[in-house]
Amino acid sequence: MAVPREAGQRAEFLRGEIERHNHAYYVLDAPTVPDAEYDRLFRELQALEGEFPELLTADSPTQRVGGKPLDGFAPVRHAVPMLSIRTETDTGPGGAAAFDARVRKALALPESAPPVEYAAELKFDGLAINLRYQHGVLVQAATRGDGETGEDVTQNIRTIRRIPLRLNGAAPEVLEVRGEVFMSRPDFERYNEQQRRLGKPALVNPRNGAAGSIRQIDPRMAAERPLSFYAYGLGETAGWPLPATHGGVLDALIGFGLPVCEHRVVVRGAGQLIEFHDRILAMRDQLPFDIDGVVYKVNALALQQELGFVSREPRWAVAHKYPPQEALTIVEAIEVQVGRTGAITPVARLAPVFVGGVTVTNATLHNEDEVRRKDVRIGDTVIVRRAGDVIPEVVGVLAERRPILAPEFIMPKTCPVCGSAVEKPEDEAIARCTGGLYCPAQRKQALLHFASRRAMDIEGLGEKLVDQLVDGDLVRTPVDLYRLDPERLAGLERMGGKSANNLLAAIERSKAPSLARFIFALGIRNVGESTAKDLARHFGSLEALMVADETRLRQVPDVGPVVAASIAHFFAEAHNREVIDGLAKVSVRGTPSEPVATDSEIVGKTFVLTGTLPSLTRDDAKARIESRGGKVAGSVSKKTDFVVAGAEAGSKLDKARELGVIILDQAQLMELLQS
Ligand code: IVH
Repeated sequence: MAVPREAGQRAEFLRGEIERHNHAYYVLDAPTVPDAEYDRLFRELQALEGEFPELLTADSPTQRVGGKPLDGFAPVRHAVPMLSIRTETDTGPGGAAAFDARVRKALALPESAPPVEYAAELKFDGLAINLRYQHGVLVQAATRGDGETGEDVTQNIRTIRRIPLRLNGAAPEVLEVRGEVFMSRPDFERYNEQQRRLGKPALVNPRNGAAGSIRQIDPRMAAERPLSFYAYGLGETAGWPLPATHGGVLDALIGFGLPVCEHRVVVRGAGQLIEFHDRILAMRDQLPFDIDGVVYKVNALALQQELGFVSREPRWAVAHKYPPQEALTIVEAIEVQVGRTGAITPVARLAPVFVGGVTVTNATLHNEDEVRRKDVRIGDTVIVRRAGDVIPEVVGVLAERRPILAPEFIMPKTCPVCGSAVEKPEDEAIARCTGGLYCPAQRKQALLHFASRRAMDIEGLGEKLVDQLVDGDLVRTPVDLYRLDPERLAGLERMGGKSANNLLAAIERSKAPSLARFIFALGIRNVGESTAKDLARHFGSLEALMVADETRLRQVPDVGPVVAASIAHFFAEAHNREVIDGLAKVSVRGTPSEPVATDSEIVGKTFVLTGTLPSLTRDDAKARIESRGGKVAGSVSKKTDFVVAGAEAGSKLDKARELGVIILDQAQLMELLQS
């Protein structure tokens, strides 16, 4: 069937429109139409091409989504060899000066000659690609290969939206553009995040991500990987008057619709190259992609030609590197660290390695899930990354270098510092020590919190003093605060007679806080001031709170499963109970402030006891109820007001449920009695 002329015109129009929007979105970062409109144009073009396959052209944006899998990559002989550049090993300012000196010498410039003009740009850390445009249409994309012959990766390159399939403006007969394909950091993080969610393997770093995508046999896989591209040079050209300078070439490429990185300058002499080097180094960590240095190029193409090549490297360009942010080393041990808040972090002890400008011997493994996911083991060779001031981290393992005996890491069940149980809520990543008040790793933090204004309000007990008290081993737990005396304090800095007495007075004054403050002061994870108040109001006494199980705790308004579990874990830890007992011995305890029930709730009310209570005998419970004016009966009837049920409660409990009688456990009974 012949293709109607209008269909051909429409397809051409749509191709132009879609590519214009692509350029605006991916290159200029300034979208021109809403996504929905873009999708509509795209689908219309797809439909047209479906109906009239003759309309399908090499530069059609529909070809970006990835075609059929390939058998392999065909070899491509480069019309102009793709050479590499010399790397200046001196990462300091000397590198720029040495390059400038070589250039001046090669050009036989006398000392009196003016400074040479250079184009300075970034050295992108990705994969070099040659894009061949014929009459403005992208016809082939090839990797560098050995410099003479690369591989045809056109299908995969087409999936990169930043690369125009057709050039803007009056296009040369032949224009080969060289540049770097890379994956930006945010795209890399997003992609890995998604892979993890799908339970699929994550990429080790953006560089591997980019290289791996381009060498995907299945272009649909490549299409899923978010890649970027920056042009930085030329290959073969024909039918095009070359600009006079490298800067001019890059400007022309921008005119054709190609992406060129904005961080580039034209400067004069070595001093200005060094300035560029320093300026880019300072912003390296803020760039959304990885660079491993900067590149200096003699700006005038005529001079480039004059300088020529030496052993397959141009004399007119040099890469001036930065210290690497990633390096290989060996995991000597995996240990866990306890942070000030009790967070337990696995840490890899590494064979010392120079990375990110410092020698690194430890790297965080973040948490147990992360260790599992990356499968880091003792003896493994790993890639360590340190970017900026960020804590060094292990980015991945070189699986092929794993020793035969490499046991999996197991998170300890008890805190390595204090021996308390380690808790890890199922839906949380971080494991924590439950030793709170007792754990030396958390001691200072716990004491500061204990003494803080909204907790025990011990005036004058600030960070400096807590440091001195703990470091001098005068105080281990809050109990020790109440055992301090003037003689012991006298040895401390700035703790002369008056200050010491003031502190001791403040400590003494703090002995009878409200129950809410006392609960808050304990520093139970997830228990802030307002939860502490709710707990105090609900339970009425610390004893009642301490024996409450998670079900009971969840009856408190705003206490959900996470908070309930934190509270239960805290009191289950013997070390914490010891601290509370110790405090009671030095007469520190919370006093209930707001009663929950009035006497009328007990006086004249009928109670029935059933089952075994955790810590009260039946006689004891009976005596307590009667002392407050209540009655205790033997069987449940409509007249029963409360049934107090313990373990193995039998038919009385069933009856109570049947009649809708209020059922209390021991803690609730105590709360009622204490009101
Ligand atoms: S120019 C003849 N400019 O670094 C000069 N290369 O060995 C050709 N690279 O693999 C290279 N950023 O992929 C040039 N702004 C830049 C670059 C750059 C990264 C890569 C290139 C090549 C290596 C140079």
